[in-house]
Amino acid sequence: MSEEILSITGLYKSFGELEVLKGIDLTVRQGERIAILGSSGSGKSTLLRCINYMERPTSGHMIYRGNEIGREVRGEMNYTNAELIRLRAKVGMVFQQFNLFPHMTVAENVMEGPVTVLGLSKPNARARAEDFLDRVGLGEKSDVYPSRLSGGQQQRVAIARALAMQPDILLFDEPTSALDPEIVGEVLHVIKQLGDEGLTMLLVTHEIGFAYHFATKVIFLHDGVIFEQGTPDELLKNPKKTRTREFLARFTEFNF
Ligand SMILES: Nc1ncnc2c1ncn2[C@@H]1O[C@H](COP(=O)(O)OP(=O)(O)OP(=O)(O)O)[C@@H](O)[C@H]1O
Ligand SMILES: [Mg+2]
Repeated sequence: MSEEILSITGLYKSFGELEVLKGIDLTVRQGERIAILGSSGSGKSTLLRCINYMERPTSGHMIYRGNEIGREVRGEMNYTNAELIRLRAKVGMVFQQFNLFPHMTVAENVMEGPVTVLGLSKPNARARAEDFLDRVGLGEKSDVYPSRLSGGQQQRVAIARALAMQPDILLFDEPTSALDPEIVGEVLHVIKQLGDEGLTMLLVTHEIGFAYHFATKVIFLHDGVIFEQGTPDELLKNPKKTRTREFLARFTEFNF
């Protein structure tokens, strides 16, 4: 088995009275591609946001490359700024709504993290940005502003921006949900290619067909826990639990 990057045990997250995550146990190994499925409101985004500490978990243990992140002090999780900065630089995230900086060109968007967080010089960051923009097929668009791009192109810039930080793990939160059906494919191809190159990824998606071809492991989140998991064949074609079957049935209801 490949090396363990991240180990999560007993992860809980509440918003006030609402308990969203109720004990998540998840190990992420080098090169794994994990697809996360679940109903709306089941906590998929919350889980990803806890993994890169955009949300603070209520409790639980997270071990990143052998080091525990945060510690419980009098019933609350505490983190140092240094460990959060280090972890966020290593765990990238791509959002449904791209979240590009509108006042920066495409290249400037991609350079921002490497310059401000990694301390690269501007010429080095520029060269790195152009390299990653080439990889997502947007080498020609370096100097335009995001508003001039299609949704699919903007999302590919967002992917290049995340890649420019050379992340250990890349998290995708429904990266194609905001796109016209016609251009979903161009973004999925880029994600598939990254997987083929060995990048470790967690992907929240409703694209079940893509999850089948992309993932090494599929997780079904329900009732705040990992309700069922397995290989794509196990989980998507032969789910064991009734609730998982019911969830998947909705995606084939209108097949023809
Ligand atoms: N910052 C917050 N404050 C309060 N409640 C929140 C917050 N973020 C999420 N929630 C609640 O937590 C629950 C899980 O939300 P989350 O966004 O993780 O679901 P999801 O599985 O990603 O859903 P979707 O498929 O619609 O994106 C929801 O009930 C949501 O309203
Ligand atoms: Mg969500």
